[in-house]
Amino acid sequence: MNAVKVVDNIYWVGAIDWNVRDFHGYSTNRGTTYNAFVIMDEKITLVDTVKSSLKGDFLKRLKEIVDPEKIDYIVINHVELDHSGSLPEIVELIKPEKIICSKMGQKAMVEHFHQEDWPYEIVEPGKDICLGQKTLSFIETRMLHWPDSMFTYVKEDKLLFSSDAFGQHYATSERFDDEVDQAVLMEEMTKYYANILTLYSPKVKKLIETVKEIGLEIDMIVPDHGVIWRSNPGIALESYDKWSRNIGDGNALIIYDTMWHSTEKMAKEVGSGLQDEGISYKLLNLRYNHRSDVMREVLNASAIVLGCSTLNNGLLPRMAGFLMYMRGLRPTNKIGAAFGSFGWSGEAVKLLNQAMEEMNFDVVDPGYRVKYVPTDDDLHKCTELGRTVGKKLKES
Ligand code: FEO
Repeated sequence: MNAVKVVDNIYWVGAIDWNVRDFHGYSTNRGTTYNAFVIMDEKITLVDTVKSSLKGDFLKRLKEIVDPEKIDYIVINHVELDHSGSLPEIVELIKPEKIICSKMGQKAMVEHFHQEDWPYEIVEPGKDICLGQKTLSFIETRMLHWPDSMFTYVKEDKLLFSSDAFGQHYATSERFDDEVDQAVLMEEMTKYYANILTLYSPKVKKLIETVKEIGLEIDMIVPDHGVIWRSNPGIALESYDKWSRNIGDGNALIIYDTMWHSTEKMAKEVGSGLQDEGISYKLLNLRYNHRSDVMREVLNASAIVLGCSTLNNGLLPRMAGFLMYMRGLRPTNKIGAAFGSFGWSGEAVKLLNQAMEEMNFDVVDPGYRVKYVPTDDDLHKCTELGRTVGKKLKES
């Protein structure tokens, strides 16, 4: 239960949530952390808090560093309750001189906690707050991923408190990027971006451009979830740059659900067609792959081929739910195609195509439907569908 030194006079005092497995519909198979920090300076400053259920762990770590009643300021970079849930009790305990936040942060805190008279200090970009030896400046990151979101930068340490950005839902006893399995770290950062930030990619792109334009020097990126980018913040920035520009890796996904395996047989043949064209692909059955893991794959894929049987004149419910989830996240710059089996009405392929057109996917084929069980000829046509998608991918 130890606080951890991040740099001189800045300590991690957050909480590790080993048990959380669902984060508003996102499967957090490795748990998460809620990172909070204390800056020991002439003005002692707490940066963010934690989910209310883990307030005890947080306070225990905080007390290893400082008597909470001695804290002067609280910086709230983001009001979502995983970071602010314990704030009312912390404010009561600390009685801070200032709660430093964005304009939208103040509004969100009032709307969450109904405390008009807390000592809010609204910071605008360009306004610095000197704590003594360390100086804080602020970058408004509205809609990354809430209207209230902001980053806090410690000038002397070139350290960026990045709130949710560059985070990972990854519970670990280690606190730094160079202490954990790199493949797991990248997997969890990719999944986080795919499920939280894809919708806001244009804003991420603008943010990365702004960081470059103003020449912000970053030695350390300190997110509110997962490990701190101490050794390799560059890879976090490069990954966000790539994802925000919707650059696919040239590969395809076949995402499907099947009733009596006919659509599954079709899916395998679509894969054969892709392989014939030299395209790497993955088959993702929605029965066995959680929507948030599928979205992690969608982030880097260049083509999405959707397969579904028709049920009750519509889609199988897992596919319908997945499409609603994916539409909300709005991935762009994808080639699309569809296939599926049916018994009598057969609407699924049309509905899949409609959904992809609504997402501005480049639907490259009308799609292919099979009644009940595919014949050899049907399966050959599915291979052709895969080849068509593969050829388009090679041209693009
Ligand atoms: Fe980790 Fe948007 O809260």
